[in-house]
Amino acid sequence: MKALPVLLLLGLSLAARADTPRQVLARLQAAAAHPASAERGDQLFHDKFSGGKTESCSTCHTADPRVAGRHARTNKAIEPLAPVANRERFSDPEKVEKWFWRNCNEVLGRACTAQEKVDFAAYLLAQK
Ligand code: HEC
Repeated sequence: MKALPVLLLLGLSLAARADTPRQVLARLQAAAAHPASAERGDQLFHDKFSGGKTESCSTCHTADPRVAGRHARTNKAIEPLAPVANRERFSDPEKVEKWFWRNCNEVLGRACTAQEKVDFAAYLLAQK
C-alpha cells in the first residue's frame, strides 16, 4: 500500500496550486501600471471591436457574465465567467492566461495588455 500516501500528497499539492480569484486578481494587478478599473473592464466585456474574428467578448460570454454562454462558431456551451456564478473561474492562473491570450486575439486581433486583463478580472469579480 504505497500508493495511498503518494495519492494523498498529489491531492495536497494539486489543492495548493489552486488560487482564489482574489489571488489571481492581485497577481494581474502586480503586472499592471494602474489600479484596476471594473468600469473599463465592463467596456472591454461589452464593446464591439473590429480587429479580430469575433466582434466582442459578450458574443460568446453573453452580455451578463453571470450566465452561461455559447461559442459563437462551434456553438459549444460555455460556463459563466463570473466567479460568483462559477467557482472554478480565476482559480488557475495558467488557464486564465491561456484564455486571455486566445480570446483577446479572437476579438481584438492582439494580446490584451496587463491593464486590460486586470480591468476585465476586476469587472468579473465585482459581479454579485
Ligand atoms: C469565440 C468565443 C469567445 C469569445 C469571443 C471570448 N471568449 Fe473567453 N472563453 C471562451 C471559451 C470557449 C472559454 C473556455 C471554456 C470554459 O472555460 O468554459 C473562455 C474562457 C475565458 C477565460 C477563462 C477564465 C477562467 O478562469 O476560467 C477568460 C479570462 C476569458 N475567456 C476572457 C475573454 C475575454 C477578455 C474576451 C474578449 C476580449 C473573451 N473571453 C471572448 C470563448 C470565448
